[in-house]
Amino acid sequence: MHQLEISDLITAVEPRSGRRLPVRRAEVIQQLRESGDERAVRIVAELPSDRDGVLDPHVVDRLLISVHTELQRLSEELRVGERLVHLLGPLFTAIRSTGARSGPYRLVDVGCGLGYLVRWLAATNALGADVELVGVDLDAALVGEAERLARAEGLGCRFVHGNAFDLPEAATVYVSTGVLHHFRGPALAEFFQVQAATPAHAFCHYDIAATRLAPIGAWVFHHARMRHPLGRHDGVVSARRAHSDETLLRAAAAPGIRPLLYEPRGSVNPFCTTLRPVIGVRPYLEAPLRLALGRAARRLVGPEHLAEATG
Ligand SMILES: C[S@@+](CC[C@H](N)C(=O)[O-])C[C@H]1O[C@@H](n2cnc3c(N)ncnc32)[C@H](O)[C@@H]1O
Repeated sequence: MHQLEISDLITAVEPRSGRRLPVRRAEVIQQLRESGDERAVRIVAELPSDRDGVLDPHVVDRLLISVHTELQRLSEELRVGERLVHLLGPLFTAIRSTGARSGPYRLVDVGCGLGYLVRWLAATNALGADVELVGVDLDAALVGEAERLARAEGLGCRFVHGNAFDLPEAATVYVSTGVLHHFRGPALAEFFQVQAATPAHAFCHYDIAATRLAPIGAWVFHHARMRHPLGRHDGVVSARRAHSDETLLRAAAAPGIRPLLYEPRGSVNPFCTTLRPVIGVRPYLEAPLRLALGRAARRLVGPEHLAEATG
C-alpha cells in the first residue's frame, strides 16, 4: 500500500481549462487513511483549511513550490540536464539528418513543474539555436514560478499554463521528467497514444528506474536533501510507483511509434541509475538515431530484447 502521493491530492484543476478546484482536507485524509498511510494523514492534517474545510490554496502553492525547489536541487545533483542531452542531442541530430522537416524544431516538456530542465537547456544552449524550448504544466503556481525564474535569468524559453497536448502548435519532441509514474492503468498507454496521434517525431520520457533498490535510494536522497515531510514522503512513494521496463515498453507501443528503452534494468548498476527514459520514435528515425548515438546505441533496446532477456 502507501501508493498515494500527497502532492497529487492537495491540488486539483479542471484538466481542460486548468481552472483551480477546491480541495477538502477531510476528503484527502480519508483517501490516505483508506490506503493505510497514517504518516501522510498526519502531514495533511497539519495543513490549514478555511471554515468549510477547504485547503488554503495559497499555502498549498507555497508548499509545492518549496518542495519542487528542493526537487530541483536533486535534479542538479543527478545531472538530469546532461542525462537528457546525452539522448536528445543525438535525437535532434537524427531528426535534422532525415530532412523530413526543417527547423525551427520545438521541444515540449510535459508537466515541467518549475521548469528546471527547460531553463537548463536554455542556459546551456545544449540542443542548438534551432530548437524552441517550451515548458507546460497544469499547475499555475509552478509554471508561474518557472516563468519568473526564466525572466530573472534572462533565458530564451517559454512556459505555458495548461494541458501540454492542447497547445496550438505541435511539438517536434515531447519530453518529461518524473511524470510517468503519475499515470496508472490505462492512463499510461493513453498518455503515449495522445502523442503518437500528433505530428511529433519522437518522445522521450524520463522516470525513476524500478529497481529493487529505488525506494531505498529515494529514501536516502530525499532525507538528505528535503526538509519538508511532504517532499520526503512523496519522494519515496514515487520510487515505489515507478513502472517496470516491460510496462513502459508495452504502453509506449502506440500506433506509428517504435518504442525503445535506454539502459534497461539489469544492464546497469542498480545503485547508479536513478532516472531512465522510455523513448518513442517514428520508425524511420530509429536507424539515424542509432547512428547519431554511436557506441551508446547498444544501450537502446526494444520490446524484443526484453522478451529475449526474460524468455
Ligand atoms: C511530479 S511533477 C514533475 C515536475 C517536473 N517535471 C520535475 O521534474 O520537477 C508532475 C507535473 O505534471 C503535470 N502534468 C501532468 N499531466 C500534464 C499535462 N497533460 N500537461 C501539463 N502538465 C501536466 C502536473 O501538473 C504536475 O505538476
